[in-house]
Amino acid sequence: MRKCIIAGNWKMNGTKESVRNLLSSIKEGAKSFKNSNLQFVVFPPHVFLDETERQLSGTDISWGAQNFSHHKNGAYTGEISISMLQEFHCRYVLVGHSERRILYGENDDLIASKFVAASDAGLIPILCVGETLDERQSGITNQVINRQLVSVLKVVSSLDVFRNAVIAYEPVWAIGTGMNATKEQAADVHAYIRNQFANYDASIAENLQILYGGSLKPDNASDLLAMEDIDGGLIGGASLKADDFLKIAEKRT
Ligand code: PGA
Repeated sequence: MRKCIIAGNWKMNGTKESVRNLLSSIKEGAKSFKNSNLQFVVFPPHVFLDETERQLSGTDISWGAQNFSHHKNGAYTGEISISMLQEFHCRYVLVGHSERRILYGENDDLIASKFVAASDAGLIPILCVGETLDERQSGITNQVINRQLVSVLKVVSSLDVFRNAVIAYEPVWAIGTGMNATKEQAADVHAYIRNQFANYDASIAENLQILYGGSLKPDNASDLLAMEDIDGGLIGGASLKADDFLKIAEKRT
């Protein structure tokens, strides 16, 4: 049975103090999920990874980075390498988030390189895919998702890397807008993604965790997280309040 992942993408938010408080509240609240089939992951800004590691070491909660360079080291001003993240015991990384694609011009090829670099280093990449409103309205959602997946699939050494990777379906029009995908819309795309993998390998498809992201909140989580192919959530805004983040997790259990 696939484990459910409840992941918080904190984006560029927080202060030393608010992060300290958020971590300790999540840590406390997560204790009641101890034996559930659920994995919490948080993605703080890089500068708070130290505090995150300090607070979460020895707990069942994992952490990761929102961004990193596919280069190993060198003259890349402002960038963070994978080995640096590993010093802070990051287990996961986000790859291909739509904000990186749209605001920072990360294209399919760069995202594929980042995915490979993370995966080669033993981190678990969460590959984000999703269509814009225009693309949905033009009826090309599946084509867009397929293009985003294939750009990664064609460069990985073996499909087996997806035994240690996660996909997040995040419709761009639902991110930070308060307008979530309906459970049917999300379920259709999740099933499409799983089917694409099933065309190559049935066991990889069956075990692949596919998260939903885009205005996931305590009041819409029950519907979305109950769908067969939805294996958890990647949560932005609502992950900044420990109560909401934990309430979303409760809806799954
Ligand atoms: P949101 O963000 O929950 O604020 O819509 C989700 C994400 O960007 O991962």
